[in-house]
Amino acid sequence: MGKIKITDTSLRDGHQSLWATRMTTDDMLPVLEYLDNIGYYSLEVWGGATFDVCIRYLNEDPWERLRIIRKNVKKTKLQMLLRGQSLVGYSHYPDDIVCKFVEKAAENGIDIFRVFDALNDIRNLETAMKAIKKTGKHAQACVVYTISPVHTMEHFVETASSLKDMGADSICIKDMAGLLSPYVAYELVKLLKEKVGLPVQLHTHYIGGLAVAAVLKAVEAGVDVVDTASVPLAFGSSQPPVETIVRALQDTEWDTGLDLHELFEVATHFEKIRKHKGFERGVTRISDMKVFEHQVPGGMISNLYSQLEEQKAADRIDEVLAEIPRVREDMGYPPLVTPTSQIIGIQAVLNVLTGERYKLCPGEVKDYVRGLYGKPPVPVKEEIRKKIIGDEPVINVRPADLLDPAWEKAKQEVAHIAQSEEDVLTYALFPQVALKFFEYRQNKTDEDEPQIRPQEEVGEEIKVEKVKPKRPAALKETRKVAGSKEEDEMNIDEIREIMLLLDQTGIAELELQKDDYRLTLRKFSGAGKETVGTEPIKIPVQDKPDLSKTEPEKEKAKADNLVEVVSPMVGTFYAAPSPDSPPYVNVGDRVEVGQTLCIVEAMKLMNEIKAEVSGVIAEILVDNAEPVEYGQPLFLIEQD
Ligand code: CO
Repeated sequence: MGKIKITDTSLRDGHQSLWATRMTTDDMLPVLEYLDNIGYYSLEVWGGATFDVCIRYLNEDPWERLRIIRKNVKKTKLQMLLRGQSLVGYSHYPDDIVCKFVEKAAENGIDIFRVFDALNDIRNLETAMKAIKKTGKHAQACVVYTISPVHTMEHFVETASSLKDMGADSICIKDMAGLLSPYVAYELVKLLKEKVGLPVQLHTHYIGGLAVAAVLKAVEAGVDVVDTASVPLAFGSSQPPVETIVRALQDTEWDTGLDLHELFEVATHFEKIRKHKGFERGVTRISDMKVFEHQVPGGMISNLYSQLEEQKAADRIDEVLAEIPRVREDMGYPPLVTPTSQIIGIQAVLNVLTGERYKLCPGEVKDYVRGLYGKPPVPVKEEIRKKIIGDEPVINVRPADLLDPAWEKAKQEVAHIAQSEEDVLTYALFPQVALKFFEYRQNKTDEDEPQIRPQEEVGEEIKVEKVKPKRPAALKETRKVAGSKEEDEMNIDEIREIMLLLDQTGIAELELQKDDYRLTLRKFSGAGKETVGTEPIKIPVQDKPDLSKTEPEKEKAKADNLVEVVSPMVGTFYAAPSPDSPPYVNVGDRVEVGQTLCIVEAMKLMNEIKAEVSGVIAEILVDNAEPVEYGQPLFLIEQD
C-alpha cells in the first residue's frame, strides 16, 4: 500500500457546512497559492451550493470565481461536486443543459467531477457521466451512503459496479451526514476495492464524531484518497481536520507526506477570515449528535436552523428533527442529501408548522412523489402518495426523458443581457436569481457603483419607533372590518388569538389603526433591540394567519366576503412559475378552491400557494420577486 492522498474541501464543503457557503472569492484569494503548494491530491472548490450562493447572496459570478481559482492554483487538480442531472441546482435539467454545463465547467478549470444522485438512481447520472467522459476529465461517481432497511452492502456494491460500467474513473463513498461508523467503513471500502476494482475516495462529515476513526479504518482497508478540511473549517458538520489525519498517519506505511507546518499557515489564514467575519467554529451540538437518529447532513443542518429562525420557529427544531425520519420513511427512505434533504426537510418543517401532516406540500415534494427525481429506494407509502398527488400517475422512465431541450430557448431569453455562454447556463439553472444578478452587474458597470444590489436598496432596514403595546382592553371597541359593511366587536378570544399570534411570530409590538381597523404589527429581532424586515405587516383582525384556527373561527372568517390569502412562510413571492410565463392569476380572475395563486420560494423550494376559497381576485398585494414575511397578506379574494 502506498501513501494516502488527501483532498481539501475548505473552499467548498468546508464553508458550505459551517459558514452557510458565505466565503467570497476575495476571502479565498490570499490562500490559494499556499493551498496549491501543500501537495494535496485535489482541492474541492466548486459546485454544490457554492454556485447558487454566489449569485443569490454574494453578487459574484461563480464562473469568474472558478477562473480566478484556476489562475492561482497551477499545480493541484480542481474538483467540483455535481448533483447529477440537477447539476448545481435543486431539480433536474434537460440533457442539453447538463452537457453544456459540464463542458463549460471543464473549460473553466475543473479536473475532477464528483457526481452523485441523491437516490443512487444511476439513470440520473447517465448524461452527466457521458458528458464528463467526453471532456476527458476525471469522472468520480458517488455511492451515496445512508442507513435504512434497504441500504445494504450489496446495494452499495451494485451501485458502484453500475457506475464503473458507465465509465467511472473512481468511486467516492459519499457520507454526507457522518453516519459511516469505523467498522462499516472498513467493510465497505474492502468490498468496493475487491468487487469493483476502482480507486476509492472517502467523503465523510465529522458531525457525530466518527469521522477520524472512520477515515483510519478506511485507510487500513485500502482507501486511496480521503477528504479533509483546514482546522478552522473542520469539525462540527464539516469534514475532519487535515492536521489530525496527517498526524495520525505520520510514520506509518500510509504517511500522507504533507507538512504540518505548512498546513498551519493555511489554517492561520482561514482563522483570520473566521474571526474577522464572525463565522462559526465547527462544534457538535447535542441535536447535531442526534444525527444518528435524524440523518440530516452537514450542509443542511445549519440551514435548517436559520430557516426555522426565519420562520420564527427556532424553538421547534426538536419537533422538526423528530418528524424528519418519519417523513423519510413515508417517502421510501431516500438518502438525505441535496435535493432530497431539502425535500424531506421542508416537508417536515411544514408538517410541524401547519400542525397537519402533508396539508401543505411544495411542488418539489409532489414531483418527488410523481417520480420526477428518480426512483426512491422503496416506493412512497400509498396513503401518503394519495394524500399528496391523489390519483396522478407515477412515472417510470428516466425523469430527464420528459424534459424538452432548453439551451436555445435560454439563449434567446437572455440575449439582451448575457455576456457569455456561461451566463446562459447560469440563467438556465436559476432564471429569476440570474436575471437579478445580471441587472446588478450591469448597473454596477454602468455607474461604477459597488456592493449594494437594487433589491437591497429597496429593502433597507427601516427604523420604526417602538410603540407601547396597547393593552388588550384598548382593542375592545367597535370596529368595522375592511371590505365588509358589518360591524362587530372584538371578543376576548380574538384578543387572545392576536396575543398568541404575536407570540408565534416574534412580533413584539402592535398598534391599532382606527381609520381602517387594521392591526399594524411591528417586527423586532430576537434580541428585541433592532427592527428587522422591511415594512410593518398589516393584518386585518379577522384574517389573521393563525394556522391553528379552530373550525368555528374559520367559518366566522368566511362570513366576510373578502378573504385574505397570507404567506404561510417567510420567502420570496413569485406571481408566475417562470419569468417568461404569465402570472398564475390577475386581478379580476375567477379562482377555484385548490387553484394555484402564486409561488412562495422558501428554503430553496418553490411552494405553490393555493386558493382555499373560490371567488374573484380583488387585489394582489405583493409585487413579483418581492420578499414576504410570515403571515403577510398576498391576495384579497372576493369570495362567492
Ligand atoms: Co459533504
